[in-house]
Amino acid sequence: MNATLDQLCAIVGAGHVLTAPDDQRAYVVDWMKKYHGRALAVVRPGSTAEVAAVLRCCNEAGVAVIPQGGNTGMAGGATPDDSGRQVILSLTRMNKIRDLDPVGNTITVDAGCILAAVQMAANDAGRFFPLSLGAEGSCTIGGNLATNAGGVAVLRYGNARELALGLEVVLADGRIWDGLQALRKDNTGYDLRDLFIGSEGTLGVITAAVLKLHAAPVAQATAMMALPDRDAALALFTRLRGRVGDRLTAFEFMTRNCVDLVLKQVAGASLPFAAVPPAIVLAELSDTDAGTDLPALLEDLLAAAIEAGEATDAVIAQSGEQAKALWRIREGISEAQVRAGKTIKHDIALPIGQLAAFMDECERVVEAACPGLNFLVFGHLGDGNLHYNLQRAPHMDDEAFYALTGSLNALVHDLVHRYRGSISAEHGVGQLRRDELPRYKSGVALQMMLDLKRLFDPGNILNPGKLLQS
Ligand code: FAD
Ligand code: MLT
Ligand code: ZN
Repeated sequence: MNATLDQLCAIVGAGHVLTAPDDQRAYVVDWMKKYHGRALAVVRPGSTAEVAAVLRCCNEAGVAVIPQGGNTGMAGGATPDDSGRQVILSLTRMNKIRDLDPVGNTITVDAGCILAAVQMAANDAGRFFPLSLGAEGSCTIGGNLATNAGGVAVLRYGNARELALGLEVVLADGRIWDGLQALRKDNTGYDLRDLFIGSEGTLGVITAAVLKLHAAPVAQATAMMALPDRDAALALFTRLRGRVGDRLTAFEFMTRNCVDLVLKQVAGASLPFAAVPPAIVLAELSDTDAGTDLPALLEDLLAAAIEAGEATDAVIAQSGEQAKALWRIREGISEAQVRAGKTIKHDIALPIGQLAAFMDECERVVEAACPGLNFLVFGHLGDGNLHYNLQRAPHMDDEAFYALTGSLNALVHDLVHRYRGSISAEHGVGQLRRDELPRYKSGVALQMMLDLKRLFDPGNILNPGKLLQS
């Protein structure tokens, strides 16, 4: 092991090989504080060539490598095991914007670029990079692509996969694949780029990406709507989307319990309604045409929705500050949950039209099996993606609650499977869902994934034990 550490120091410089527990602290625990690991070292390369040399060295020594970006992932994918023999490969020093092409409408960035920095660079050039999520101030493009992140603008612009044109990837044995093409069309066989997107660091290390830019929206309107019940959300979504189409860029849903929790746990959060309604939708409209009066359009739509009984009240933000305050309630849910104590989380995708039926049935099934749990249901309803989280019942202690994790996961996910949904919509599989995957993926699909893993990483050094059982 010492010889490997010496080689790693020679590659990236001793100052970028962190071995002291204090220096490693922020890297060995995940954002939710659910997974705690230990590492031989945290290695911080400064270039693609250094990533390649690190992987070559670790592959030859049989040392496992855990790629890590901003460490904001929600499936434990970036946390090492507790052996103390794995190396964390942190990409955050690789944070350069390599190129911005206003004609091709693309931006080429190092994988360690923080998402917000990419948004900013696009903005400075009069363009728009639409990937947007609560962790955008610290997550990286490499992590976004490795998890195929979603967020709050998928409805209009798609998830990370749909925003990527080309990738540069270092393979397990240190070879570099230069797939940094900015092509909108390329039908020369298997799509290697798409194999790496969503592979959670198990097939290769993404070192750079060419991303699509869009025209910057100049007109925007944000509204929060109080719903009479959660089922009304689908009618409201159908109304808004049917009328404004792609101008509906976000349609975020949250149930009363989530709002109650945010109001209790997040400083400065306040609701624009007199009482907390059974459910809330936060919707955003945007347009690249400054002449469109989106607030007026939204006002018409909301009046019609109230008339039809799909909403009981609505507020349209009158300023950027007010819009931010509305978003604070939505974006505060993750933080509020962490503060309130751990939850059993589910990040599920369902056919949109089945969401109401699913929520009704799932609540009945879970309540019957385990009465008194607190349901924290929120998410990107317009994408069919719910964060279906459960908090312990008041009479339970943490231990008794966690003992139910396996059975509650099975209840929720079996039902998701019956509705032909997915047990991971946007957070990935990591170690959180790894052991459940075989229950829901077909044998054929799982075998193809295992075969690919063996082909790309025969020594099983890349994020072993994540996504697939090793
Ligand atoms: P990390 O956490 O560092 O890593 C995540 C995975 O990617 C790991 O498996 C890791 O090994 C791998 N990886 C990282 N970098 C590379 C690389 N360069 N090459 C290969 N593999 C790599 N996700 C959503 O999809 N939608 C949301 O709305 C959303 N909201 C969030 C809100 C909050 C407050 C938080 C904390 C997280 C949220 N997330 C959300 C979860 C998370 O997926 C994203 O934050 C982000 O995509 C992870 O990026 P990261 O750089 O932090 O990756
Ligand atoms: C969100 O939509 O806020 C996230 O995906 C984070 C979470 O599920 O907590
Ligand atoms: Zn989400």
